[in-house]
Amino acid sequence: MTNHIPVIAIDGPSASGKGTVAQIVADKLGFSYLDSGALYRVVAFATHQKNISWHDANAIAECAKALHIQFKQEKVLLDNQDISNDIRTELMGKGASQVAVHAPLRAALVDLQHSFRVSPGLVADGRDMGTVIFPDAQLKVFLTASTETRAQRRYQQLLGKGQPADYSNILLDLQERDARDKSRTSAPLVIAKDAILLETDNLGISAAVNIVLSNYQEKIDK
Ligand code: DC
Repeated sequence: MTNHIPVIAIDGPSASGKGTVAQIVADKLGFSYLDSGALYRVVAFATHQKNISWHDANAIAECAKALHIQFKQEKVLLDNQDISNDIRTELMGKGASQVAVHAPLRAALVDLQHSFRVSPGLVADGRDMGTVIFPDAQLKVFLTASTETRAQRRYQQLLGKGQPADYSNILLDLQERDARDKSRTSAPLVIAKDAILLETDNLGISAAVNIVLSNYQEKIDK
């Protein structure tokens, strides 16, 4: 039983800043960190390599069960190969959102996600951390921002990396991805009843981190 180990669940849509906030919170508390989106991205990458259709629910789940995924420092390894950059492309983001609609795949990834809950605690970010994977999390946060703000952030990020970027395409892509993540029947992106809502349009990363930390402190002081 690992349920005494604290979890901070941070959910929200793409480019809401949840990954950055979650990582900093984990560092400050000395907790482990789970980037659950990376798991769906690895599955999109591996199935793409094996020519498995992103619509074939059973083949995707079977493929996922056989994968050897490791997180080492900041790197994501598949069968000991560093695929950190390969999974961060727009295509793999889209693929992750497509494979993630399938219930057999989501079921296949549950135990792996639970295995990240180790002492002294875990910060987990994704879409269903507080609703499905860690419903007993000590603190649940839903981090979001308007689609325009998020598209602007992604646009600046791509430009910063010297990659080609088209704001209108990014905006459309985010809208499409949000719609798919929210409307799927299996673990859709919703705000957990007991989550705190953080809108980050006008909130910097360090302010968001401080709000999460102070809410967590309040919860454990109770
Ligand atoms: O957080 P991200 O952009 O890396 O996630 C990529 C996709 O993975 C996202 O569009 C939906 C899916 N995902 C999911 O369904 N459940 C999660 N807990 C995390 C990600």
